[in-house]
Amino acid sequence: MSDIAFDEVSRVFERDGRDFLTLDRITFNVRDREFVAIVGPSGCGKTTCLRMAAGLEFPTSGRVTVGGRAVTAPGPDRAVVFQQFALFPWKTVHENIDFGLRGKGLPEPTRRDRIARQVELMGLQGYESAYPHQLSGGMQQRVAIARSYVLDPDVLLMDEPFGALDAQTRIVMQEELIKLSRVNPRTVLFITHAVDEAVYLADRVVVMTRRPGRIREIVDVAPVRNAQDWNRHDRTEEVMDQESFVHLRTHIWRMLRGEQQTDDEKTLETTGGLT
Ligand SMILES: Nc1ncnc2c1ncn2[C@@H]1O[C@H](COP(=O)(O)OP(=O)(O)O)[C@@H](O)[C@H]1O
Ligand SMILES: [Mg+2]
Repeated sequence: MSDIAFDEVSRVFERDGRDFLTLDRITFNVRDREFVAIVGPSGCGKTTCLRMAAGLEFPTSGRVTVGGRAVTAPGPDRAVVFQQFALFPWKTVHENIDFGLRGKGLPEPTRRDRIARQVELMGLQGYESAYPHQLSGGMQQRVAIARSYVLDPDVLLMDEPFGALDAQTRIVMQEELIKLSRVNPRTVLFITHAVDEAVYLADRVVVMTRRPGRIREIVDVAPVRNAQDWNRHDRTEEVMDQESFVHLRTHIWRMLRGEQQTDDEKTLETTGGLT
């Protein structure tokens, strides 16, 4: 079982000698092999949540568990894809994908097979010996995703992984992610700015409030997707045109719009700390 659970998680950060409450008693879970997306205003603590599941950041109070165990450090059961691709510029595509695999102590032929399969899945054939700077942004992000998938982790943590891509490439990547997760379902926590993307990809969407981040609502998408059989459509735009899709998207948009803050409020917030 590789579920992720946030239980009453709060986080305080210090800035200019004052404490700021960033996350306020966040409680939600990602079930084993479920795809959960988080949406929320910029600065509400989405990345902090993901870093906590990754073991790169820790709660001030509350608990984060993966597979029932408190997260104390990064681990090979969890792969992280950041918005910044974080590829090694001095390594080739093959070497970048191989990097995490090496630590697993697999024999060379097994590693080569697994890399070849990911290269094919991600459409990177012919680019194995290229360096990141020779690739487009979309291809670099494919390498970053291949590098995570090749480890075959139980848990995938993705922080706006398509945020830097152009609209066309983004759609292709979304379709590939959907295909991959049908073939090989994983427990996924996925952060995005794009409501469309969240509703398209996720089983459930966690909507957060502005800072200090709280949970506004958790929207159940999977029952609608199944009832309306969105999967009968091959193309993203056909799904996004469905009335049931538009309905969910609008519902989430309205909540987020209510969370936008005015400049006056922002000024107040930066001049008045919490404690
Ligand atoms: N290590 C840190 N030290 C101080 N403040 C931080 C740290 N990490 C994040 N923050 C602050 O916490 C808030 C939430 O950040 P983040 O989780 O990146 O939000 P989001 O991903 O939703 O935009 C921001 O105000 C950010 O400046
Ligand atoms: Mg972020």
